[in-house]
Amino acid sequence: MDMQDGNVKMTQQTVDRAMNPSDAIERTIRVQTRDVTVHYGAKQALHGISIDIPERAVTSFIGPSGCGKSTFLRCINRMNDTIEGAKVGGTIKLDGEDIYDPQLDVVELRARIGMVFQRPNPFPKSIYDNVAYGPRIHGLTSSKADLDEVVVSSLRKAGLFEEVKDRLNEPGTGLSGGQQQRLCIARAMAVGPEVILMDEPCSALDPIATAIIEELIDELRENYTIVIVTHSMQQAARVSQKTAFFHLGNLIEEGVTEDIFTNPINKQTQDYIMGRIG
Ligand SMILES: Nc1ncnc2c1ncn2[C@@H]1O[C@H](COP(=O)(O)OP(=O)(O)OP(=O)(O)O)[C@@H](O)[C@H]1O
Ligand SMILES: [Mg+2]
Repeated sequence: MDMQDGNVKMTQQTVDRAMNPSDAIERTIRVQTRDVTVHYGAKQALHGISIDIPERAVTSFIGPSGCGKSTFLRCINRMNDTIEGAKVGGTIKLDGEDIYDPQLDVVELRARIGMVFQRPNPFPKSIYDNVAYGPRIHGLTSSKADLDEVVVSSLRKAGLFEEVKDRLNEPGTGLSGGQQQRLCIARAMAVGPEVILMDEPCSALDPIATAIIEELIDELRENYTIVIVTHSMQQAARVSQKTAFFHLGNLIEEGVTEDIFTNPINKQTQDYIMGRIG
């Protein structure tokens, strides 16, 4: 990849964003959370989180380790259901529909709200089978040709196809870390999600692989609603249009990314972005 080009592109996008900073915030709300609490046994990890997540934009969650970012992210596709002793309260709606409705099919929900984790976790299967996995278990395609098409288009959307097109039958685990993470993104895309949750997707990657994923995230936001947890404030500033700052299980401040980083209202947010806490 030409890093020079990558940098120029990002700078241009930053300028575009600066000209219309509140644009993203005015978009339709895709995910709405109200008074969300999480307890792990007797310990309360989240205290009444209310936030609106706009469609076709990137929202970042920042804050010191242990403040509840991953816990909150997991609430959004009910991944906390799988954690013994975790209890979620409050309401979370996707397009106005309560995702904690007992009638709701959780497997289907997780196809609509995909997740990418900190460590790339491809299945011990071929590149092709990693991406085909979701469409197969959800019965999304009716023929081999259909499935081929979904696999190729998902790999393309994840910016990986050109690098792997000659070795689709080789193991996904044989790819580089950055390629594995893009494979995991392709796997999430293959079931046609509307929202993609990413929990520190670059923290195990080198700066070049990170830059590629950040560019990808920037492209994906044209069509998807993205939420990213990151420890890197530079990354939040580069890729997101909306930022939420968490501290000790509370949502302290949220707003247009630029405002959060240049003109935070809350003292704790100021301290965090100045590097005084965390
Ligand atoms: N499975 C669990 N069981 C019990 N407590 C948990 C569990 N997962 C998280 N916690 C606790 O909940 C709180 C929030 O943790 P969480 O992992 O959400 O924080 P985080 O902001 O993602 O931190 P980091 O930046 O280190 O990833 C912490 O006090 C943590 O110890
Ligand atoms: Mg975390």
